[in-house]
Amino acid sequence: MIYLKTPEEIEKMRAACTLVSHTLGEIAKWVTPGVTTNKIDAVAREFIADNGGRAACLGYGGFPGAVCCEVNEIVVHGFPSNYTLREGDIIGTDVVVELDGFNGDMCYTFPVGEIDDEKYNLCRTTKESLAIGIEQCREGKRIGDIANAIQTYCERRGYSVVREMCGHGIGKKMHESPEVPNFGRRGTGPIIRNGMCIAIEPMINAGSKNIVIERDGWTCRTRDRKPSAHYEHTVAVVDGKAEILTSFEPIYQVLQERFI
Ligand code: MF3
Ligand code: CO
Repeated sequence: MIYLKTPEEIEKMRAACTLVSHTLGEIAKWVTPGVTTNKIDAVAREFIADNGGRAACLGYGGFPGAVCCEVNEIVVHGFPSNYTLREGDIIGTDVVVELDGFNGDMCYTFPVGEIDDEKYNLCRTTKESLAIGIEQCREGKRIGDIANAIQTYCERRGYSVVREMCGHGIGKKMHESPEVPNFGRRGTGPIIRNGMCIAIEPMINAGSKNIVIERDGWTCRTRDRKPSAHYEHTVAVVDGKAEILTSFEPIYQVLQERFI
């Protein structure tokens, strides 16, 4: 069942998404060599609480953090830990905020200091593929059109698409119908309609598409341990086209010319 949102509900989605965007802006200030991922988690928790939100990942299915921390070969769902960021790492920070009963979901993969060309190009392509996918998100098109656009864009550039993890509908719950895969055929899947709210989140690997779930039951990494990148926006379909409810602007304000 796909819950189409009313204009009033979309207004609440906007507020939750604005808060998660500013949370990522706070995180951006701390992504630097020598900082632990626990510190990043603590910064996010405090910022979300101070602004009246709830860190929706915390305790979700037993997840131990407010922020999923995805360093280098970690694809998704890494725990915050005492790992200290090092020059040359990339780290995806994936955060969900609930505000006034609605959720905003967003992820950004940051460079830690100077990174090599392999990681830079992976991040760039993944972020571009998110924009390419969002372009397909229009009333009357299908979810498979988004999926196919992301897959085609990334595979043409030699990257591979993780199969097991998907984007998703979002609203009162973090995960709602429909699933939004990053691979598939054009013209397939649910029809996109006004009022739909979805999180689009390409998870793209430099090497093979294969993943492994670690023994903690959560941490998802590439099988070949090559890097993976992940960017995510929450969008609503309004007046026939995608309105991007989350924003990377607070991150860009902090990183200035250092963003990817
Ligand atoms: N954006 C992630 C997702 O859509 C957030 C996961 S939160 C967690 O799956 F609690 F499951 F870690
Ligand atoms: Co998500």
